[in-house]
Amino acid sequence: MAQADNPVSWRQNRPRIREILHSEQPRGDVVAEGWVRTVRQGKGVAFLAVNDGSCLASLQVVVDAAAPASAALPRVGTGACVRARGKLIASPGTGQRWELIADELVVLGPVDETYPLQKKRHGPEFLREIAHLRPRTNLFGAVFRVRSRLAFAVHRFFQERGFLYVHTPIITANDCEGAGEMFRVTTLDPFHPPGTGGQVAWREDFFGEKTGLTVSGQLEGELFAMAFADIYTFGPTFRAENSNTSRHAAEFWMIEPEMAFADLTADCDLAEEFFRYLVKVALRECAEELAFFEEYVSPGLTARLEAVAAADFGRMTYGEAIEQLQRSGRTFAFPVQWGSDLQSEHERFLTEQVVNGPLFVTDYPAELKAFYMRLNDDGQTVAAMDLLVPRVGEIIGGSQREERLPLLERRMRARGVAPESLNWYLDTRRWGSCPHAGFGLGFERFLMYVTGVENIRDVIPFPRTPGNARF
Ligand code: 4AD
Ligand code: MG
Repeated sequence: MAQADNPVSWRQNRPRIREILHSEQPRGDVVAEGWVRTVRQGKGVAFLAVNDGSCLASLQVVVDAAAPASAALPRVGTGACVRARGKLIASPGTGQRWELIADELVVLGPVDETYPLQKKRHGPEFLREIAHLRPRTNLFGAVFRVRSRLAFAVHRFFQERGFLYVHTPIITANDCEGAGEMFRVTTLDPFHPPGTGGQVAWREDFFGEKTGLTVSGQLEGELFAMAFADIYTFGPTFRAENSNTSRHAAEFWMIEPEMAFADLTADCDLAEEFFRYLVKVALRECAEELAFFEEYVSPGLTARLEAVAAADFGRMTYGEAIEQLQRSGRTFAFPVQWGSDLQSEHERFLTEQVVNGPLFVTDYPAELKAFYMRLNDDGQTVAAMDLLVPRVGEIIGGSQREERLPLLERRMRARGVAPESLNWYLDTRRWGSCPHAGFGLGFERFLMYVTGVENIRDVIPFPRTPGNARF
């Protein structure tokens, strides 16, 4: 199942540029198609760097001014889409092993000088403004190749371990996290909704009740874990939190495994194995991209990833974390005391200064966490875990679930969730309940970690953030 190093194009006679650049020997009659990154004029020849997204490197296409192919040159500029046919020869120039001597050059899609990607390097802010064109740059080419390979590796990891892949719904009536961050889904007329006295009659809405976009597939995932034991979801997730940070998106992708017959320790063990697996896949299958990030985005990246792939992750309870922070002698913007949530400055201090690597913080005070987490015997904390990593902060959130019906109902009421509203969920506790645990990994947060890219908007193809859903 491993990804082939150099997958061959499915369409005959159209090798990908990656494949052409990996040729063992010179070849006649090679066709290359792609987008022109740069055009350079030499003496009596033009050099086109042609890229088709299959790898970072471009193919150098050489067009002799005397060859018929040169007739197309006036219409070839940066950004044009071309097809070149010719001979692949060992390049006499430096910087590339092979070059294509064009006998034929066809302009499939011309450009003009208003094409915005003229310069060699643009900043990420500018590129975000043209998110529809940025896949054609080196940085975003590398990011989205890594994203694609790791998405596939997520499935490989769970499928190899016998987990069932379940598609949980996108439209739902439950706010799993209970944080009130759901986007509404409705077909009611926003100007004249049915109802009286300022109360909207949601029963007249499309689904007969108030619905929204899912904030997590966990609750439905738990239902499947009560039948298939080991399951996972991997899907889009939506949160209407109005936080304009570099780590929050309104639409992101989450991977949520759920295991029956598992406790918090098993949950951390799975998270650690999964995390390390993905890092190793990146090191093995995305070496070219990582070398690029190392040079242009985050020096030291590869060494950091290699260290993470080799070391055990730290584990400490919330109580120990609070003690560490208090003993540090640091002044934080948010004060540290038992009962208050860890802020990102605290999380960063713990991972970057205390353990210098990934760290599980477990057993948080019950008031800080969602209703479904299992109450510990101390009656104050729950069997929760967050995985914190340097630079990114929280990357995984998970827990052992409360499988005891009376305690779960009590926790729900304490967190302001009406047990009647989740009767179907409580049925799993009524009939054949069992200890179980799971977690959620934010896929974009993981991509930030593995690429060194610092803004979540730059690891998702079309970011949705407050004020932005244009492309
Ligand atoms: O900690 P969270 O809210 O946990 C859950 O949703 C649980 N239901 C998961 C479970 O136990 N099955 O979210 C999990 C992870 C976070 O650690 C973070 O990586 C990511 O999802 N995440 C976000 N990523 C990008 N933008 C946002 N607005 C995110 N909110 C959470
Ligand atoms: Mg969380």
